[in-house]
Amino acid sequence: MIAPLPPGLAVHVAADEAATVAALAERVVAEIAAAIGARGRCRLALAGGSTPRPLYDRLAAGLGGPVDWAAVEIFFGDERCVPPEDPASNYRMAREALLDRVAVPEAQIHRIEGERPPEEAAAAYAGRLGLAPLDVVLLGLGEDGHTASLFPGTPGLRQETRPVVVTVSPAPPAARISLSLRALCAARCALFLATGARKAAPFARVAAEAAREAAGGAPADLPAAMVRPAGGAPGFYLDAAAARESPWRIP
Ligand code: 6PG
Repeated sequence: MIAPLPPGLAVHVAADEAATVAALAERVVAEIAAAIGARGRCRLALAGGSTPRPLYDRLAAGLGGPVDWAAVEIFFGDERCVPPEDPASNYRMAREALLDRVAVPEAQIHRIEGERPPEEAAAAYAGRLGLAPLDVVLLGLGEDGHTASLFPGTPGLRQETRPVVVTVSPAPPAARISLSLRALCAARCALFLATGARKAAPFARVAAEAAREAAGGAPADLPAAMVRPAGGAPGFYLDAAAARESPWRIP
């Protein structure tokens, strides 16, 4: 008998990065369509870092399926406190890989102004975000178990009531602006993309903590394991390399 997999996460493992990205692109397209069908628009938050670039490229090429981009509002899970043209800017990466290639109206792209004083930029972004929940939040996984710019050991992550926070990253650029855990958990759908051997150990820890919490055990310590969207268990899209230290490893 095959042992049941741990609860608390919805995990999708594909053989390699390309197959994982293809599967997630189709899921994102389906979630966008569902949101537009239900509410006439989709509030989509993009992940930063380097992992999502092939996903955005695939979405821009229409390979995940057609998207009514005119009905999509673009937000960002987090931003480094750098100007938009800085190579470290998550906005710049999203522009290059996706936003300059699809027809999202400019007024519907809500950039975190990393060039402004962080508290000012966070307050302005919170104003753009408003009170409605995000429909889809795309997230990455850091090697220390962070997600967006919510880092392990940050006090008050679970107690924070604001939707947008200023944080400090152990890796440069240090100053960050991030959706709070509260905002991430208010989302209807959270989808993580983690690929490559570097993500095997952090995902194994996240999976163990999420299963522990889901089974009524001690609450998770890693921010990536704390994300429990209102709409259901977070989806993790992994390649075999990232899943290899977890119960979802491909034999
Ligand atoms: C950021 C991201 C961050 C990222 C992880 C993984 O601004 O860096 O929001 O949470 O998703 O650090 O980064 P890589 O995809 O580059 O491994």
